[in-house]
Amino acid sequence: VASEKQNLLVGRERELDQLRKTIQLGRSLLIEGPVGVGKTHLVREALVRVGLKAIRVDGDSRYTEQKLTGWFDPPLVLKQGYRAESFIPGPLVEAMTGGKILFINELNRMPEGVQNILLPALDEHLLQIPHLGEVKAKKGFAVIGTQNPREFTATHALAEALLDRFELIRLGYQGEQEERAILAGQVGSKLADPKLDSVVRLIRATRSHPAIKRGASIRAGLAICDLLRSDLDFETACLMALSARIEMVSPDDDPATILKDLLAQVVPHAQKKNETRP
Ligand SMILES: Nc1ncnc2c1ncn2[C@@H]1O[C@H](COP(=O)(O)OP(=O)(O)OP(=O)(O)O)[C@@H](O)[C@H]1O
Ligand SMILES: [Mg+2]
Repeated sequence: VASEKQNLLVGRERELDQLRKTIQLGRSLLIEGPVGVGKTHLVREALVRVGLKAIRVDGDSRYTEQKLTGWFDPPLVLKQGYRAESFIPGPLVEAMTGGKILFINELNRMPEGVQNILLPALDEHLLQIPHLGEVKAKKGFAVIGTQNPREFTATHALAEALLDRFELIRLGYQGEQEERAILAGQVGSKLADPKLDSVVRLIRATRSHPAIKRGASIRAGLAICDLLRSDLDFETACLMALSARIEMVSPDDDPATILKDLLAQVVPHAQKKNETRP
């Protein structure tokens, strides 16, 4: 199972190397890239490959500072006062005291107050907790964060002070061969080669279409392939998987119209030869 799992990461050798070296130096790292490009997957697989256990946290706007650091359990405080034994460590304290990696997925979805907690932990490897005192990080502690770039609307930008404490890896879409290998790895022999090629060509074409602001990621490609395991026809599967996943330059444009157009250009054969509609 272990070796099977390692093969789950297609390509990304350079990023893997950067990731490994940065972690070994105890430095913290931010992975930035568009939705669905493979940020979370890269970090997860990289940690498996280097054999490091990480504590994972998923950022959201209701995440609190106490949830990240830890908190004093009120009944325990009543019984024994503010002692270390009354403190329930959160993921940050656990990672620091255990010398582990803290993996914060979607770091920029965290409220600013939570992001600020990380500042001293990142550069001094220290954290002050009221009533508990100073928490020191053991060797091995580092933070790996993922985030979408600034232009993605639903996310806030990380504070400059926080950005200044991370090394950055920008992830872009992978090459055609690698994207094909990712899809093939997931659907295996269940999908004929020409169809697989068509899916790759289509998602890649959405990224350079002038009317499309945000094209389809490999995750969208995986969704099409998954739908195609049923007897849905190619066009239907593509429209279902892509319509909500791409963003048009002009809100008046109908994604379906553009997608049908692209389909006709990019996969004329798949449309005519391989598909028969009931
Ligand atoms: N190099 C790769 N090898 C194998 N599978 C990959 C690779 N890159 C991405 N994937 C697959 O693509 C899908 C999307 O990847 P992932 O969830 O990591 O994207 P993300 O960048 O974290 O997206 P989001 O911005 O939505 O958080 C996952 O199913 C993942 O397994
Ligand atoms: Mg992710």
